[in-house]
Amino acid sequence: MRYWMVNRRGRSIALIGMMGAGKSSVGRCLHRRTGFVLHDTDEIVSANFGMPIPEIFTEHGEEKFREAETGALRHMRTEEQMIIVTGGGIVLRKENVDVLRSQAVIVWLDADEKTLFARASQKRNRPLLQTKHPRKAFSQILGSRRTLYANIADIRVDTSVLTDEEAAVAILTKLRRMNPKRESLIPAKAS
Ligand code: S3P
Repeated sequence: MRYWMVNRRGRSIALIGMMGAGKSSVGRCLHRRTGFVLHDTDEIVSANFGMPIPEIFTEHGEEKFREAETGALRHMRTEEQMIIVTGGGIVLRKENVDVLRSQAVIVWLDADEKTLFARASQKRNRPLLQTKHPRKAFSQILGSRRTLYANIADIRVDTSVLTDEEAAVAILTKLRRMNPKRESLIPAKAS
């Protein structure tokens, strides 16, 4: 456990996890509660290309998207305390993981597979699920990533039966419990 790193004052909070885990909406709740600056790598990449993510995949391909995702992470201003919301595939590149680990406590938002898929397939904005058998594709992607999420996460929160606000509170509570003393990175007003 990266105890000291996790609890050092001034650290950011990064949310990782599969599509449908609730990273963006929980990230907004954390932003409201902590006052930390909110950065969402998908939003940054989309703004940089001037088009939505599915179009980036169609017109430029996944590799260009991944490069832009890494670029978005690298260009974040490290002097700010941030809530960093990431895309589900951020863990695929070691350099991304290195950047996240150097700046943030890493929170894995997880849920049971059925719930994740139901949430992820609500909108048609996930290019990796635009296949003949999206359920199967989802299962394969999740299977290949679970260990990656588990390996880099400092804490895991299961959002299966939680609202976004409840998930945010669960995260802040866990982080505070990891360091009950004065050095907590979470402002007292947050919960
Ligand atoms: C992806 C997840 C998406 C987005 C892109 C690729 C992935 O973000 O970055 O479609 O590889 O899992 P969400 O996790 O917010 O859906």
